[in-house]
Amino acid sequence: MNHLLTSSDLSCNEILTILEDAKDFQDRKEWKPDRQMFVANLFFEPSTRTKCSFEVAERKLGLSIIPFETNTSSVVKGETLYDTVKTLESIGVNAIVIRHEKESYYDELVGKINIPIINGGDGCGHHPTQSLLDLFTIQQQFGTFKGLKVAIIGDIKHSRVARSNADTLIRLGAEVVFSGPENWFDKEVVKDCSYEPIDHAVATSDVVMLLRIQHERHGDDGTFTVENYHHKYGLTVEREKNMKPTSIIMHPAPVNRNVEIADELVECEKSRIFKQMENGVYIRMAVLKRALEIKGGWLQNDHQKRK
Ligand code: CP
Repeated sequence: MNHLLTSSDLSCNEILTILEDAKDFQDRKEWKPDRQMFVANLFFEPSTRTKCSFEVAERKLGLSIIPFETNTSSVVKGETLYDTVKTLESIGVNAIVIRHEKESYYDELVGKINIPIINGGDGCGHHPTQSLLDLFTIQQQFGTFKGLKVAIIGDIKHSRVARSNADTLIRLGAEVVFSGPENWFDKEVVKDCSYEPIDHAVATSDVVMLLRIQHERHGDDGTFTVENYHHKYGLTVEREKNMKPTSIIMHPAPVNRNVEIADELVECEKSRIFKQMENGVYIRMAVLKRALEIKGGWLQNDHQKRK
């Protein structure tokens, strides 16, 4: 079953194949399934980029999208995640994208659901398609991961993006360092990475990746005001001037302008923030292709029905 639940589900070769497929889609090469296929996007947490770019990707691939909104579904009557997904499988959905606030929500589905599950983000856990689109953006810029230094800066502790990117970048040969508030640096989240003070990290890295402060995950503990966070840990206009000439700025977005990054830097020459969003469509096309490619002659859902 071609689930995509965490980035560590993918070998380096599988990652590189997805990046190649994404490049093909960017170059307008076509892949479409040879029969009607249905997908459903279940977003139990808010999303703009992931949800909308999955929908664009699905339409580009000619997939039929089953509209699903949690607040008009039987979820509001108390139906469980498992029963919801099993229902969609039973009525013929071929793949499902899920974002959920519960970390590792997929543990209760794997082994019992016979269609591919693509994780669109689970709590503070993982966000594999964000990591893949970040890798694609870095590869576009530098052509390689080996020897690059990537600084991930900000709310490491609550970031599924930090966890997924640390895993993939290190396996592909990059050096990953973290910066931001030291009490938000969590060695459990990001193994094999060191901490660097922000000014050093910004001045010496090829990729400066900023993370949003995840207020919804830890509430305001009163530690920072917007101004003093930006001054102490944000990418200020002054810090940007010390970046290497060839380095780039990334952020998974949504961006808190003038907190993690100065407003005027969001669309500056070094910024790849909107390029990341564009790349999200190609990556999600590649991930859907991987999920839906026929294995052993039958699509998984068709195979189940023939039993
Ligand atoms: N980067 C990202 O996951 O954005 P959304 O929450 O808008 O999907």
